[in-house]
Amino acid sequence: MNSFNIPSAQTELKNKNPRRILKYALENFDNIAISFSGAEDVVLIDMALNIRKDIKVFSLDTGRLHSETYRFMEKVRKHYQIDIELLTPDRTLLDPFVKAKGLFSFYQDSHQECCGIRKVEPLRRKLSQLDAWITGQRKDQSLDTRQDIPEVQLDTAFSSDNKPLIKFNPLLNWSSAQVWDHIEAYQVPYNELHEKGFISIGCEPCTRAVLPNQHERIGRWWWESGNKKECGLHAGNVTTEQPRNKPST
Ligand code: ADX
Ligand code: SF4
Repeated sequence: MNSFNIPSAQTELKNKNPRRILKYALENFDNIAISFSGAEDVVLIDMALNIRKDIKVFSLDTGRLHSETYRFMEKVRKHYQIDIELLTPDRTLLDPFVKAKGLFSFYQDSHQECCGIRKVEPLRRKLSQLDAWITGQRKDQSLDTRQDIPEVQLDTAFSSDNKPLIKFNPLLNWSSAQVWDHIEAYQVPYNELHEKGFISIGCEPCTRAVLPNQHERIGRWWWESGNKKECGLHAGNVTTEQPRNKPST
């Protein structure tokens, strides 16, 4: 897909609705997949299946997800009758890491190393086989790291010199309320943790419920200071390092 013209795609898709962006992505790329983990991503799957039946979906199974999240994946798989490819960490990296540092080192020395092994490396492996991917990122998920995401972009974090990777963010301009309106209107399956105060859901040890009116991102890696909380999947959104604190408990 060396010939794909990003500036012209961006001009065409600017401020377009999610369906239009998704349609453009699925019509222009065969070798494309949706990265699935949360409420936004099921909305994308729901919309995508009305455009193409043969969509590819993958999820990063870090081995540390909530049991509710595993049940949710299964619910989605059955509801839509689709395959969800589960990507697991490379044991040759994970085993020595756990042996050396145990299962909760991220509370002491930040989440980057664990996320690097459990999320980023498997994602890199998967993305190296694709020409493009689709994410459920929204601008208002983070005022600090997601405000500038475009409809379509070159994924600078995962492209290689000889293989550009294109990234689509169809829901970028949607609010959480719009996502949930779609879920309700179209009876889309959702993670039961949302009924227990969770909004943004990642791995179990690194996610907690938030209080009413707290920002959703506060429930992620809550022991770390700074607002630029990204785990590396969307590394292109973050340009500076942040200081980190130890947990209070
Ligand atoms: S994260 O980088 O902080 O973990 P977040 O939970 O906000 O990301 O999700 C943003 C988008 O990243 C999701 O809509 C999805 O496309 C992708 N994503 C996040 N976590 C996963 C995962 N475990 N597997 C696959 N895709 C994921
Ligand atoms: Fe590890 Fe937490 Fe990152 Fe999951 S979110 S990969 S448990 S540091």
